[in-house]
Amino acid sequence: MKLRLAGPDVAAIECDALILVEFEGSPRADLAVLSANRDSGEVTGKPSELTLFHSLAGFKAKRVLLAGGGKREKFDSAALRKLSSTAARLLKGKGVKTAAISLEAGYDSAEYVSAVAQSMIEACWEPDRLKTDADKDGARTIEELIVCATGAASLASALEAGRVIGEASNLTRDIAVEPPNVLTPTALAERAREMAKANGLACDVLDENRMRQLGMGSLLGVAQGSAEPPALIVIEYKPEKASSNSKLGLVGKGVTFDTGGISIKPSEHMDAMKYDMCGAAAVIGAMQAIAKLKPSIAVTGVIPTVENMPGGKAQRPGDIVKSYSGKTIEILNTDAEGRLILVDAITYAKELGCTHLVDAATLTGAIVVALGHSQSGVFTNNEELLGRWMSASKVSGEKMWHMPVGDEYREMLKTVYADIANIGGRAGGACSAAAFLKEFVGDTPWIHVDIAATAWLDDPKPYMAKGPTAVPLGTFVRLALEWK
Ligand code: BES
Ligand code: MN
Ligand code: ZN
Repeated sequence: MKLRLAGPDVAAIECDALILVEFEGSPRADLAVLSANRDSGEVTGKPSELTLFHSLAGFKAKRVLLAGGGKREKFDSAALRKLSSTAARLLKGKGVKTAAISLEAGYDSAEYVSAVAQSMIEACWEPDRLKTDADKDGARTIEELIVCATGAASLASALEAGRVIGEASNLTRDIAVEPPNVLTPTALAERAREMAKANGLACDVLDENRMRQLGMGSLLGVAQGSAEPPALIVIEYKPEKASSNSKLGLVGKGVTFDTGGISIKPSEHMDAMKYDMCGAAAVIGAMQAIAKLKPSIAVTGVIPTVENMPGGKAQRPGDIVKSYSGKTIEILNTDAEGRLILVDAITYAKELGCTHLVDAATLTGAIVVALGHSQSGVFTNNEELLGRWMSASKVSGEKMWHMPVGDEYREMLKTVYADIANIGGRAGGACSAAAFLKEFVGDTPWIHVDIAATAWLDDPKPYMAKGPTAVPLGTFVRLALEWK
């Protein structure tokens, strides 16, 4: 999508469709011509109300799409994201190629401009790349977007940031949507290498031999049931001039398919477990955006990737493995595999000098039960980092909820046979999973984001296609950009 800024004279904009926001209770003065639509109750300004007009008097645009903004006091950049994506998805379906959107004074700061650019790029993504039908949804896209705002001249870098994050988010979704026969751990590592090369980042991929030499028994135990070899992917961004000695480590769960292993999952909906590498895909996308937007903090992406399969060589419930940290782990359920690969990656990230860690993982079914699909669960050992993360999420529009990870949850993982067990029972399952990770993090400030309920949209929404959402890519990128 080509993007450009224009001034606030929207009547003069030539395009296929111009999007104007109407707030509830404050009819736009430049649309007095619509008094009949208002009087009839068809145009109210309520959220998600869309009314499309052709050849509206006074406008050069071929169409005007009037989009309800809801109550003015409640309108924020998250509301703008939803509104502009809904509008974009409607318009692209109608064959619109050039669109414009007008941001009113007060709703035209850098945050709004970035949000609108990002969300309209994301809105044009479709999961049907492998369909051969020439008329598929993915064949229709908006080619050019004009953002009209008063301070146009000073908003160029905000527009660019939105574009970069939107494109990174679509890269994440392209990777995440690949079927598990195509996107093996080796293929995921290849995608990471390509991204790194194209963006001037260093990329190192540890293969099975190197991991064995290092003693990453926890990760390798999960991988051993699959014919597909595992990998540990490391992508490094170094700022030209760092503003601090901090180094942020982004760790993403990369299980390319999760059958459960010997503790095998029921066959119904097992296909959904191709999404078990969404954390990894979000890290790859975030590293691309970071390479382009150049924050002043060093960032290292660390991605453990395996396929969790039952097989003649698969790990068994009852096995005890030695992790890279040296701690021993009793495997009580081979389906609790995410935490097993993550802890070796976390130990490796600390060894690489990461001073702060954020991991994203489709870790537990329990977080789906706890929070539903609208919010990701956030666990931490450090209030200060939590504050940074939550404020970054306000800007990214990705909803997060703080969950507990106290000592009670560590208690649930006690076993007499090893240092720790890999499951802690059904109750509080998302919290005991986080407590397992915490055991290996030590004193390093750390955030764990359980995205099991938010990484994938099963029912398409007017503002988003079915499939991967790229969460928490936006928050990863904002966290790095806002680091001082
Ligand atoms: N990838 C799954 C998490 C998952 C499960 C997400 C179901 C969405 C729906 C993870 O590896 C897993 O299988 N977790 C188990 C842990 C349990 C065995 C302690 C779970 O949540 O059922
Ligand atoms: Mn599992
Ligand atoms: Zn899993």
